[in-house]
Amino acid sequence: MPSITYIEASGESHTVDVPTGNSLMQGAVDNMVSGIVAECGGACSCATCHVFVDKAWTDRTGEPDTYEQEMLAALIDTTDNSRLSCQIPVSVELEGLVVHLPESQF
Ligand code: FES
Repeated sequence: MPSITYIEASGESHTVDVPTGNSLMQGAVDNMVSGIVAECGGACSCATCHVFVDKAWTDRTGEPDTYEQEMLAALIDTTDNSRLSCQIPVSVELEGLVVHLPESQF
């Protein structure tokens, strides 16, 4: 299982193992990481699973599709490395991935 590090806005860090095929959001929820609300359960319709992908990893996590871009556009604190974590499937290529959580989701 790939090891993923979620860093809260406070700086608190959580490194957890997430099964391949699960979303980055599910990995956070299953491990009770604060800051991933995931109100819609992964349907890409709430944008409460927003993360900032560490810039060293953006090539491997890919780009948001059009619908995800529209959801991100509704948020006020996005940057060029913003993603909805429910739309990122965990794969072995993401071993060691680091994401940062926005202050707005606490
Ligand atoms: S969990 Fe709702 S958009 Fe990701």
